[in-house]
Amino acid sequence: MYLLISFTFLILQFIIHSQGKLDPCPVPWRLPCPLPPWPRTYNMQLSTQNYFGSSEDFYDNETVSFAALHGVIGIDWANHYSLPMHREDTLAQQAAIIKAVNPKTRVFVYRQAELALNIFDTNAIVMYNSSKTNWFVLFPNGTIYNDSTTVFHYRMDQFCWDHRNPDVQDYFVNSYIASAFNQSAVDGIFYDDDTGIWAERSNYPNYTEEYRLVVDAATQVSLNRAWELGLRYNKHAWQAWLSPNVPTSQDTTAVCVEKMKTAISMKDVPVTFPAMYNGACSTPWEQCKDLKQQLAAFLIARGDYWLFFTPSTWWKEGFETNYGIPLEDAYEPFPNFFVREWSNCTVYLDCNNFNSDIIFHSRAMSAHRKKLSHHNSILMKYFVHFYHLLCRFCRMFYF
Ligand SMILES: *[C@@H]1O[C@H](CO)[C@@H](O)[C@H](O)[C@H]1NC(C)=O
Ligand SMILES: *[C@@H]1O[C@H](CO)[C@@H](O)[C@H](O)[C@H]1NC(C)=O
Ligand SMILES: *[C@@H]1O[C@H](CO)[C@@H](O)[C@H](O)[C@H]1NC(C)=O
Ligand SMILES: *[C@@H]1O[C@H](CO)[C@@H](O)[C@H](O)[C@H]1NC(C)=O
Ligand SMILES: *[C@@H]1O[C@H](CO)[C@@H](O)[C@H](O)[C@H]1NC(C)=O
Ligand SMILES: *[C@@H]1O[C@H](CO)[C@@H](O)[C@H](O)[C@H]1NC(C)=O
Ligand SMILES: *[C@@H]1O[C@H](CO)[C@@H](O)[C@H](O)[C@H]1NC(C)=O
Repeated sequence: MYLLISFTFLILQFIIHSQGKLDPCPVPWRLPCPLPPWPRTYNMQLSTQNYFGSSEDFYDNETVSFAALHGVIGIDWANHYSLPMHREDTLAQQAAIIKAVNPKTRVFVYRQAELALNIFDTNAIVMYNSSKTNWFVLFPNGTIYNDSTTVFHYRMDQFCWDHRNPDVQDYFVNSYIASAFNQSAVDGIFYDDDTGIWAERSNYPNYTEEYRLVVDAATQVSLNRAWELGLRYNKHAWQAWLSPNVPTSQDTTAVCVEKMKTAISMKDVPVTFPAMYNGACSTPWEQCKDLKQQLAAFLIARGDYWLFFTPSTWWKEGFETNYGIPLEDAYEPFPNFFVREWSNCTVYLDCNNFNSDIIFHSRAMSAHRKKLSHHNSILMKYFVHFYHLLCRFCRMFYF
């Protein structure tokens, strides 16, 4: 149960070709992509996202405090892994512990799209009922396909839901998934393995391609129904946020530009950037080489519901700063140079050399802020123009 690489490429293709018109979608259950059921915000701290992994018990206080700094977090199945059962309850309890520290933190809990796991009580109760053998994918000899594994000191059985069975769909949606939606501390669900069965099942027998496709298609139907149920509860799905590729210092100028243009074109779509599967730096922020530029890229491209996937430590200066609100869309005054005006700052990223900056407007100007920030922005344009010419000049000598 490792987290799956998302179908970023497929989704990007889709976005580019259908801006402003979001349905249908190549990953059918994810879109149309209703916006999260909460007000939009440009507050940077509320726009941060992180995912929390394994812990023998509930998270320690330090982890809870860190989690509670974020706008949106996910909690993995391996939270409180010492307990071989009751995961519906422990995940919701962990969510409540975090929300007690910061009620503004939105907490998403883990659910498995593909596997029935006996650590969830709603799963265990049907996994061992001999009259429900047809609820699960079977070996050719008719016994349940079982990727059993050992966690801590107990056995965790992993069966694959056979979503083709209508009873499985009903149960998956109305019991297993509903058990998260009906908890007040839970804001939504992280659906693991939502792109289908088989990806991680290394020791499966040779099921035919036709069989795999039909089980996968049925899984998408269940997920779509779960999504619809979530909307009725005003809950959301982690997978609603899409992940465009994020520029890095390894990119050529052309690649950086292409990534920026794609990200900018996704302004009206919920996006996580850099996103957990997409080059997010998982080390302390000081070691995240491209963090400064990626935050600038985020501010340049972002829309109402964008989230910035944070490193493994909190970067106060980056995430608690009040950037204000964007005053206009991003623009490219000179080739490969992206700029956006915010009410409190001007942000740029130069794909020619992967330099970025966030330039704050003087606070003394607040009385005439609008007018003066307009002047500032003109000065900025002259500055970047000069800078750009100078760099071009430098490059002539270095190449
Ligand atoms: C952790 O926080 C809880 C709740 O604030 C408190 O009761 C407990 O004593 C703290 N534990 C430690 C080890 O600091
Ligand atoms: C097993 O499933 C059958 C059919 O749904 C049901 O009637 C029975 O009560 C279940 N047994 C247990 C022990 O839950
Ligand atoms: C059924 O097949 C699986 C996979 O080949 C095997 O591990 C299992 O022992 C078999 N069970 C029986 C009862 O033959
Ligand atoms: C699943 O596999 C484990 C470990 O091999 C075994 O102990 C357990 O009986 C199996 N359960 C089922 C229902 O196949
Ligand atoms: C939530 O749903 C589950 C499954 O339907 C149910 O067992 C549980 O009692 C419900 N809890 C609340 C608080 O409504
Ligand atoms: C499954 O297919 C692979 C590749 O075709 C083959 O090497 C393997 O022996 C097959 N396994 C079974 C159990 O048929
Ligand atoms: C700009 O920043 C100041 C604090 O530095 C803050 O009071 C103000 O609300 C910010 N402006 C906007 C539009 O957020």
